[in-house]
Amino acid sequence: MRKAYLGLSPKSLPPEQTELVLKLSLLHETSQAMMTTIKLDDLLHIIITAVTMEGGFGFNRAMLFLVNHSAHTLEGMIGMGPESAEDARRIWNEFAQKKVGLLEWVLSPERILSKVRSRVDEICKSIIVPLHPIDGGILARTVLEKTYFNVSDEKEDTFIWENIYSKVGGGPFATVPIIAKGQATGVIKVDNIYNNKPISEEDIKMLTIFASQAGMAIENSRLYQTMELAHQELREAQEQMLHAEKLVAIGEMSASIAHEIRTPLVSIGGFARRLCRSHQFDKEKEFLEIIVKEVDRLEAILNQVLVFSKEPFLNLLPYNLNQIVEDSLHVFSDELRQDNINVIKELNPNLPLVFCDYPQIKQVFINLIANARQAMTAGGYLKFKSCFSEDDKMVIVEVEDTGGGIMPKIIGNIFNPFFTTKEKGLGLGLSITHKIMLHHHGTILVKNDYGKGTTFILHFPFRE
Ligand SMILES: Nc1ncnc2c1ncn2[C@@H]1O[C@H](COP(=O)(O)OP(=O)(O)O)[C@@H](O)[C@H]1O
Ligand SMILES: [Mg+2]
Repeated sequence: MRKAYLGLSPKSLPPEQTELVLKLSLLHETSQAMMTTIKLDDLLHIIITAVTMEGGFGFNRAMLFLVNHSAHTLEGMIGMGPESAEDARRIWNEFAQKKVGLLEWVLSPERILSKVRSRVDEICKSIIVPLHPIDGGILARTVLEKTYFNVSDEKEDTFIWENIYSKVGGGPFATVPIIAKGQATGVIKVDNIYNNKPISEEDIKMLTIFASQAGMAIENSRLYQTMELAHQELREAQEQMLHAEKLVAIGEMSASIAHEIRTPLVSIGGFARRLCRSHQFDKEKEFLEIIVKEVDRLEAILNQVLVFSKEPFLNLLPYNLNQIVEDSLHVFSDELRQDNINVIKELNPNLPLVFCDYPQIKQVFINLIANARQAMTAGGYLKFKSCFSEDDKMVIVEVEDTGGGIMPKIIGNIFNPFFTTKEKGLGLGLSITHKIMLHHHGTILVKNDYGKGTTFILHFPFRE
């Protein structure tokens, strides 16, 4: 064992007790070092540093693998070690001059900087070991048998020979299991390729104790990660709930306003039309016509608001979405031609049928085409693509335009009701579209290539 740092001088003790104090202080220091972080990648870096550092366990090279329970494999997580004997000598000299202890080194900003990728690390990260006593060799057996191995003839293990040593060289090695709560959750593999120091049983015993400390720390870090994830999901769910509540409130409010306005509007429109019919060729008739036109426009807006706020009734029948795409494009065929917009169709002819409400899905495509058209004032391409995924049981329709895309800072708002960047926009198109998709258990995503164009991606679930 190498130097350890506890601040006390064991010089006055008999040699065997000195040795023991040094060992205990090393373990104490490594466990303190591991407690400085809860992030898994940082923790693994500290562990591998402790295993290879002069002030730590001092092995020349180390690799750490963790069990992937669902895949029944061991996965290489991190490796550390110099690339060559000269490299090793240089690093050891540098360290000897620095005279830093493990804990000091772990806490120093230099350690973070030293997280450069080495060949050993690269190779380690590429390795997946089957958890099988023959196929996975000693690495797998260390986990399966929960025991260490000290191997003096490295050719004994074909897995390590073929997957590691053929790439980064090697010699005698040892493996110890990482244990947490009585279960083997990983392996640390060490060797002394550069100074050829034999690995003693004593070394292995110390490393085994350390590996179980490390096991607990890794377990805690993973639990923390799971908790973080759960917390994140909860936060997102809460945000969605708030958003949904807000939408309901806006919906109710706009519906009641729309109803209030609609009744007088109908009388205004009715009387204006009557007056319009009874006047002929004078200035007043011109004014009356304007009133009639504007009332029509207001009624159209109110209808949209009512569509938005009403809980839609779904009349679900099996349809081929390609057909609905064609029908929706047909509505705009003259306008698209006039605006110099080329329509490209890449529709998969074998699309499974989707249970949906025809007028509502047509509304979805019409809203998207209307937006694309308004974005492509100087002409462009409007592409419809349809395909399906047998695995996910989804029909996917993509609507892509070359209208310059959406400014990134507003993209979070486009599905909100009444959000619009257009002078005469109402801001309900995408919000209605989103709602219809939700009612069909589908999704709508936007892929934005700002400066070029926008793609809306719709997923519709289908049944056999
Ligand atoms: N294809 C598109 N290209 C660029 N911007 C778009 C596109 N589709 C939607 N937008 C943006 O999203 C906003 C909201 O769209 P929408 O809900 O349909 O309301 P409106 O069309 O009435 O503005 C638009 O004002 C526009 O800024
Ligand atoms: Mg719109």
